Amino acid sequence: MARRRRSCLLVLLVLCLSQLQYSAVRRRLYAVVRQWVRGSSAMPHRCLPDELASSDTFGDASPAHAERFLFYSPQFGHSNQLVALRNAAAWAAVLNRTLVLPHLLGHATEAQYRLGKPDRPKAAYAEVFDLARARRGVRPLKLVQASDFLALGLRPQRVLQVTGSALKLVRLRDDYFEALSLKWGPPLEIRMRSFTPHSIRYSFGGCTHHRVLAFRSLFAAWDVRPGRASPPGWMVGRLPGLTWLDKQAMPALLAPVPNLSRLVHSIHNWSLERHDSLLPPSRANATLADSGVGRQLPRELACLHLRRGDFEVDCPKYAAEARSKQGRGWVKSHFQKGWSCLQSDRVIEFNIQKLQQRAQHRKLAFFVATNAPLKSKFLRKLYPVTTLRAVMGMINSSGLLVSRQLLAPLLDQLVCSQAKWLILNVFSTFSQLAMGFIGLKSGHQIGWVRDLKMEEQAVAGVNISYWQRQPGEAFA
Ligand SMILES: *[C@@H]1O[C@H](CO)[C@@H](O)[C@H](O)[C@H]1NC(C)=O
Ligand SMILES: *[C@@H]1O[C@H](CO)[C@@H](O)[C@H](O)[C@H]1NC(C)=O
Ligand SMILES: *[C@@H]1O[C@H](CO)[C@@H](O)[C@H](O)[C@H]1NC(C)=O
Ligand SMILES: *[C@@H]1O[C@H](CO)[C@@H](O)[C@H](O)[C@H]1NC(C)=O
Ligand SMILES: *[C@@H]1O[C@H](CO)[C@@H](O)[C@H](O)[C@H]1NC(C)=O
Ligand SMILES: *[C@@H]1O[C@H](CO)[C@@H](O)[C@H](O)[C@H]1NC(C)=O
Repeated sequence: MARRRRSCLLVLLVLCLSQLQYSAVRRRLYAVVRQWVRGSSAMPHRCLPDELASSDTFGDASPAHAERFLFYSPQFGHSNQLVALRNAAAWAAVLNRTLVLPHLLGHATEAQYRLGKPDRPKAAYAEVFDLARARRGVRPLKLVQASDFLALGLRPQRVLQVTGSALKLVRLRDDYFEALSLKWGPPLEIRMRSFTPHSIRYSFGGCTHHRVLAFRSLFAAWDVRPGRASPPGWMVGRLPGLTWLDKQAMPALLAPVPNLSRLVHSIHNWSLERHDSLLPPSRANATLADSGVGRQLPRELACLHLRRGDFEVDCPKYAAEARSKQGRGWVKSHFQKGWSCLQSDRVIEFNIQKLQQRAQHRKLAFFVATNAPLKSKFLRKLYPVTTLRAVMGMINSSGLLVSRQLLAPLLDQLVCSQAKWLILNVFSTFSQLAMGFIGLKSGHQIGWVRDLKMEEQAVAGVNISYWQRQPGEAFA
């Protein structure tokens, strides 16, 4: 009797399952049953987009062997786009999907967005970075450029928006997808508590029937920091996942094309040489920069990062935050350590004197990475510093067709990564990425980083300091 009742229940269950309206629910149930039959205690992988969209039409049923893709929109400025690229490479590796490399984009102003006419120059990834080298270096991950991907005609039906506690959702834009004529309507929001290989696989690993997962942003959507322990159980190829990401994939992904690499070395060489020819002899012994004249030491490049523009607005806000009780810990700590956010001429002079002491009698030449015309009277008078403006002719004849606005921040970072001495801004992501590019040069030893520890600086042969306020000077 009991046996008959059980058989009846089973038949009923099968009938129910086959009648279920939403295949999303069905798939989820099957996944649970499959897992249960296999006797595995691990949680099955889910496909949160299906569950949340509660729609049968969302997936795009595809053969099991078909190549699957991960596409995302790069948000914000240059440095943040590179940060998101690392996240996207990690996500694509975790989900075994081909990474679609988006274009590199310039930064439109708020005013342009308000007028509905953002002016964001764009460049294909391969115009700037060496795609063939990247493809070899990121194996087993596969790469495709956005335009080649679009030519396949694959389109997801919804764009996904992952959210989490620490995620920067402010001012996300859709102009990139729009510029590619991809209009996907409101994004499907997917809340995640963390962004680890485990949580990503758990939330999206069951989406293999979606050929494309497209994300509105992957900025801040990855918790695993460079230099930490690789998450247990995450392997890519035969390497621990994080070793693969930061020591193998990132050096390959961010290797410049040969023409860009040549330009960087030309600017480096020229900055060193012009310094000797431009300095009036009467001044030569009066400047700290030339304290080594007469010795037969080669000149060494010092990179000064002077962040202007948006920092003229942001730094006073940080300073106010540091004084308030509710201020974030890192903001307070940066100011308490004496670091400077926006440098006055006096602060610049003070820091260069300190740099000269550190460099002892070495002869230095200065390259200033800046996002605004150089206004510092002190720098302009005392040292014939090099900025990108001074080497426009070289840039014009480099064979690079990329817009100057788009190229400038990358070029600044790459030239600074050739310097032996650096004064950077502790508040700036740009400065962090300049260190990242230094780490990439010693790929297997250091790899991708956001700051260089003393031992790493010694390995890379560089000496880095952050802009410091003068003793007793107010927060700024
Ligand atoms: C990754 O995806 C490819 C199809 O693109 C498939 O052939 C391969 O078996 C998958 N690898 C793993 C580890 O799932
Ligand atoms: C830069 O200078 C170095 C050493 O003087 C030289 O070997 C190299 O070819 C130069 N590079 C360029 C691009 O001018
Ligand atoms: C600079 O050097 C010249 C000779 O090399 C010397 O005559 C002059 O006094 C020096 N100037 C200063 C300010 O030390
Ligand atoms: C940078 O220079 C200072 C002063 O010479 C020295 O104390 C410090 O150890 C140097 N840092 C590295 C990483 O070499
Ligand atoms: C570089 O090219 C831009 C236009 O592409 C031009 O306006 C500028 O004058 C050029 N500068 C030099 C120094 O050749
Ligand atoms: C590199 O620059 C040269 C001119 O300097 C140009 O002829 C060539 O097309 C460029 N190469 C690429 C791949 O853009």
